[in-house]
Amino acid sequence: MKSVVVLGAQWGDEGKGKVVDIYSEFADIIVRFQGGNNAGHTLVIGGEKFIFHLIPSGILHLNKKCVIGNGVVVDPGVLLQEKARLKERGILDDDSRLLLSHIANIIMPYHIALDTAKEEKLGTRKLGTTARGIGPCYADKMARVGIRVCDLLKPAIFLDKLQNALDLHNFVLTGYYGQPPLDLEQVYEEYLKYGELLKPHVVDTSLFLDREIKKGAKVLFEGAQGAMLDVDHGTYPFVTSSNTVVGAIATGAGVSVKMREVVIGVVKAYTTRVGGGPFPTELFDEDGQFIRDAGNEYGSTTGRPRRCAWFDAMVVNYAARINNFDGLALTKIDVLTGLPNLKICVGYELDGQPLEDLTPEIDLLERVKPVYEELEGWTDDISGAKKFSDLSKAAQRYVRRIEDLTGIPIVMVSVGPDRNSTIIRKNPFRQ
Ligand code: GDP
Ligand code: IMO
Ligand code: MG
Repeated sequence: MKSVVVLGAQWGDEGKGKVVDIYSEFADIIVRFQGGNNAGHTLVIGGEKFIFHLIPSGILHLNKKCVIGNGVVVDPGVLLQEKARLKERGILDDDSRLLLSHIANIIMPYHIALDTAKEEKLGTRKLGTTARGIGPCYADKMARVGIRVCDLLKPAIFLDKLQNALDLHNFVLTGYYGQPPLDLEQVYEEYLKYGELLKPHVVDTSLFLDREIKKGAKVLFEGAQGAMLDVDHGTYPFVTSSNTVVGAIATGAGVSVKMREVVIGVVKAYTTRVGGGPFPTELFDEDGQFIRDAGNEYGSTTGRPRRCAWFDAMVVNYAARINNFDGLALTKIDVLTGLPNLKICVGYELDGQPLEDLTPEIDLLERVKPVYEELEGWTDDISGAKKFSDLSKAAQRYVRRIEDLTGIPIVMVSVGPDRNSTIIRKNPFRQ
């Protein structure tokens, strides 16, 4: 049985949550495998809005299992809050629908304090992180001093690890950043409680997935962030601290790279990014403001205004190369309605020379000049379109041009935030 993977192909916020919600109907299990609550995935169903930071977007389908894999960094307070909100809305009556890896790393309060303190110290050179402790938590994981879900269930082991971690981090917080230290006793008590509350969800999720896949379960993997935020392949250091590309599934969920997957890249009909870093097609004029207003481009995690830009085929082709996309889901095309002229970046020039491929080296990427192609806009309301031929001719040409430039079929076109505002051209679970 094939699995389906949904990944961001730009700088995040492409509409992955909506796409995952739609494909969840055809899956049995939905899995997050990287990132943490830096993600904000918004779903709108019949006008009702849901935002998920940690729990997979498939949870609204009441008969599906949702997995938070070992590659995710977990803020237990946030997870429990998200769970409580779902319970209030009658969506998570059955605890067994939510599975949490026993070996996922925990975001501790010192990670959040360090994230904030680091950014403050960087001043104008700050990365613009979500201040959720993501970077410091992944750093501890790699330094092998992380605290994992299973540790919270073993008081003596937890105390020992916490003591070691706090020794170092309090020293850095107070000595280097001039911040107050964290209290061992307080953190210990609070997180031990979290452990108890999370216990019903904790399992070996890699083993669970292996067993279910062998029984024929259909699995949907939900990426967070996007290719350009990947810690290796993105615009380093203006990236997140995890791998966001397809290879992260194997390590972050504990499944084989040999698994047969259909990989769908999610792309906005334009481009946005939150936080610092190079952004070749960025708009600083009224077109950018038009897109920000029409697309409500304000972060669902931090509320920050998103930087807006024209569609950049160099970015999507780069993401497509690393991920080997089988199809694209094109979102938010309705937002462009009313702009008389649309631009698509079809190439870059560096020092007057054409660049064949995007380079993630930021000093070079900052200097590239986008080569644009102009396309005619449209004014007719396309937000009720149910099939491709319902789109205005100019919108159809826009979609086809992106297909030509990427060489990848657009399997879904999203024309509004709601689940219903979607044109499905091909179902990846039936591919
Ligand atoms: P994610 O992080 O990739 O899941 O994306 P976000 O949820 O952070 O941001 C996408 C935003 O656009 C959300 O507010 C969605 O409700 C909204 N959205 C998704 N698809 C469409 C669409 O086709 N049209 C419009 N107008 N909004 C959309
Ligand atoms: P979803 O899953 C957009 C960005 C932050 C910052 C950089 C590093 O909703 O697409 P971090 O807190 O991860 O250390 O911040 O990454 N960032 C995102 N931008 N969407 C996201 O997630 C993001 N998660 C992190 O804005 O520039
Ligand atoms: Mg988002």
